[in-house]
This record gives sequence, structure tokens and C-alpha cells, in this order.
Amino acid sequence: MTADLFSIEGKTALVTGGGQGIGRMISQGFVEAGARVYVASRKLEVVQQAADELSAIRPGSCIPVRADLSDHDECRRLADWLTEREGGRLDILVNNAGANWGAPYEEFPDAAWDRCLDVNVKGVFHLTRYLTPALAAAATPEDPARVINIGSIDGLHVPILDTYAYSASKAAVHHLTRVLARKLAPQHITVNAIAPGPFESKMMQATLDAFGDAIRSQVALGRIGSPEDMAGITVFLSSRAGAYLTGTVIPVDGGMSTTL
Ligand SMILES: NC(=O)c1ccc[n+]([C@@H]2O[C@H](COP(=O)([O-])OP(=O)(O)OC[C@H]3O[C@@H](n4cnc5c(N)ncnc54)[C@H](OP(=O)(O)O)[C@@H]3O)[C@@H](O)[C@H]2O)c1
Repeated sequence: MTADLFSIEGKTALVTGGGQGIGRMISQGFVEAGARVYVASRKLEVVQQAADELSAIRPGSCIPVRADLSDHDECRRLADWLTEREGGRLDILVNNAGANWGAPYEEFPDAAWDRCLDVNVKGVFHLTRYLTPALAAAATPEDPARVINIGSIDGLHVPILDTYAYSASKAAVHHLTRVLARKLAPQHITVNAIAPGPFESKMMQATLDAFGDAIRSQVALGRIGSPEDMAGITVFLSSRAGAYLTGTVIPVDGGMSTTL
């Protein structure tokens, strides 16, 4: 019974922002576990390079696509293109693309709100909605289609840094996850969120350079997250082992938000 409980072999996934950082960790985990993965972001050269590297693990396992997911029409265009290419079916959607902005309270610009909310929240909603028919077509009661939203522990606790729009946007992602979980359950689509703690990425580079030791000291397990930590939770959520979870927000943070 449990031999293939954690298998995602043969499934098809879309990972937004899948060319680098956490999205790249998830995409590689999926490819190594036997899935085929579309990686989408604005910089074609970045997703192309990731696709070349991941396709070396298994030929044809990773397909790059350019899309600006802060733009409503581009969300629809990506969803339509993928739905047609995949014969109307998609097993897994990972809404990982995200943007951050830090600035002092007194100077925090209006543009930061647009930037963070457009991609972190509105993009998640639009892309999920336009891919819902394809997800529903791939879903069964025993093995639902999966939507995995990448939130943040900054949407659970109060962050130390001046990231007002980002932390508000991530709290919004967590709640949107619950709302969509209820909405999509009748179509056998689960919706869960992962709230990562610190992981190495372009977005986190400056923070880790400046405060790496302080951050590690706040993580109960005493280390930064690894690619395997992120691959493990997303493969689990995408496999039959994760079929009975929906509307959850799972901190993957070495205890940073759960034990402080
Ligand atoms: N690293 C951490 O410690 C950490 C902690 C908590 C949560 N997170 C979350 O994890 C997710 C990934 O972040 P990361 O840390 O891996 O940072 P990252 O390396 O900066 O990755 C962000 C990704 O989002 C894509 N992206 C940004 N704006 C986009 C847009 N308008 N349209 C399409 N793609 C867009 C970027 O690709 P392009 O630039 O090519 O568009 C990139 O692939 C984010 O949602 C972030 O909030 C990260």
C-alpha cells in the first residue's frame, strides 16, 4: 500500500519563479521524483538555464516559459497556453513567484505595495483561477490536483525588517489559501500554503549576508533551509500521501516561527 504513496511519477507541474531560489529547489525535487515541470518567470534566460540543467537529469523533464505574473493578461495567457499544450490537464500548480521590498516606515513608497501585492497575491489568484479547469480535469477524489502557494513565516509572525507590503501580502496568501481550499474542494483540488523560514536565494542574499548569524540563532534547528527541505514538503504535498490536506499553512522553518 505504501510503496508508491509518496510518488509523483508521471505528474505534470507548473512552478512559477521556478528558475532560481526556492522555485528551483522545488522544480529539481519534482524532476528527480519523476514529474515533468514547467518553469515560468520574466527572465527567459534564467528559466531556460534551469530547464537545460534539469532536463539533463531526465530529457524533456523541464520546459521554460516567459511570463510576467504581476500582469493579469499574462496570467491568463500562460494558463491558456499551458492548458492547450497539456491537453486540458494539469496535476500541480506551485505559486512560488514573489517580490519583496524593504524601506523605512517614514519613506515606504506606494510602488512597493503595487509590486508586492500584484505578484504575491493577485498573480496567485489569477493564475489559479485560469488554471482551475485544467486542474479539475486532472483531479480524482483519491488523488486530487494540488495548488501549493509559497507564503512566508513573515506572514505568520511580525518581521524584524521594514517589509510592510511583503509581510501583509504573505498573510494575504495564507488566507487566500484557506478561501480557495474551500472553493475548490468540490472539484477535488487541494490548496495548501508553505510558509518558508530562511532559505538561500537572490531575495534573501543581502539579508543573510548582513544578519545570517542572528537568523541562524533564531532557528531552533540552527541552520538555513536546504533544497531537500523544500523538495521534501512539496513532493509530499503533491503525492497521494498529501491527498487529505487542504487549507493548511505549513511552516518549513526549522522551528523559527513555531518555537520562538
Ligand atoms: N528565500 C527565503 O528565505 C524565503 C522565505 C520565505 C518566503 N519566501 C518566498 O519564496 C518565494 C521564492 O522566493 P526566493 O527566496 O526563491 O527569491 P528569488 O530567488 O528572488 O525568486 C523569486 C522568483 O520569483 C520570480 N518573479 C518575481 N516577480 C515575478 C513576476 N512579476 N512574474 C513572474 N515571476 C516573477 C523571479 O523570476 P524573474 O525575476 O525571472 O521574474 C524568481 O524566479 C517567494 O514567494 C518568497 O516570498 C522565500
